[in-house]
Amino acid sequence: MSQLFPTTRLRRLRRNESLRGLFQETEFSLNDLVLPIFVEEGIDDFVPITSMPGVMRIPEKKLASEIERYARAGIKSVMTFGVSHHLDAEGSDTWNEQGLVARMARICKDTVPEMVVMSDTCFCEYTSHGHCGVLHGDAVDNDATLRNLGRQAVIAAQAGADFISPSAAMDGQVQAIRSALDAAGFLDTSIMAYSTKFASALYGPFREAGGTALKGDRKAYQMNPMNRREAVRESLLDEQEGADALMVKPAGAYLDIIRDIREASRLPLAAYQVSGEYAMIKFGAQAGAVDEHRVVRESLGAIKRAGADIILTYFAMDIARDGI
Ligand code: PBG
Ligand code: ZN
Repeated sequence: MSQLFPTTRLRRLRRNESLRGLFQETEFSLNDLVLPIFVEEGIDDFVPITSMPGVMRIPEKKLASEIERYARAGIKSVMTFGVSHHLDAEGSDTWNEQGLVARMARICKDTVPEMVVMSDTCFCEYTSHGHCGVLHGDAVDNDATLRNLGRQAVIAAQAGADFISPSAAMDGQVQAIRSALDAAGFLDTSIMAYSTKFASALYGPFREAGGTALKGDRKAYQMNPMNRREAVRESLLDEQEGADALMVKPAGAYLDIIRDIREASRLPLAAYQVSGEYAMIKFGAQAGAVDEHRVVRESLGAIKRAGADIILTYFAMDIARDGI
């Protein structure tokens, strides 16, 4: 018998909601989502981020009550970004035991121990020049930055962070962090590398959110968005260096890369729906051009379908509030 039309009619399985649900191939839930948060020291009130409607900088003194609120809503994991008032040339606040990186991890874990805390591990929010490491002339000194990444990782682990998530895009950063953690006895602290991180224009709103001082760009250390083979190579190198999970960032415009890495590695894979992706959906919806509720779910579902296990998204609390 023919497997073609008119015998075969794919619409039979699409006739109603129950059938569509039964045959749906991809789902996501709150178990898959990580909420990135911005925590500012030395302020009293929430600061709205105008380029990311609905997202605010959290005053450090309100972090504990926010974490409780997220946990009550069903959020399982956060990624912490600090907005520092203690900038210097190297970002040394990040490896101070009493610095913002350590305090954020401590507050989160002390308040809700079961919340999985991922500590963004970089320097750009703590350096006076806004680059992701130590400057040597105009360039970021890769190997000097590795030493500081190791220091920061140990401080964050000591403060209770479950995951060290290096976003500095330095060569060898996972190896450097793994050996620093192991040498300090943090054998069980995981590393989720930002393993394939593109030099993307979609980070625009994050610069306002994080308040970085950067003039110029990060093209000398982050990846060229046009390179697919190199993107796989970046993540596979991090796997060999000892990463526990990999990441593609941004997510929505890089679904092919997510699929490539999914097929090249057996490690868990995360994807970061970044600030610009969030802003485009929010402003598009505010202008009446698209339906926010549906676009959010379609975009997250597509990222999972491409092969991501975990999604970092600023929409996580919206999903927690309104359901899938
Ligand atoms: C900095 C960092 C950036 C993001 C996460 N960590 C910005 C950048 O690399 O310039 C982007 C996150 C977002 O846009 O949501 N290391
Ligand atoms: Zn950085």
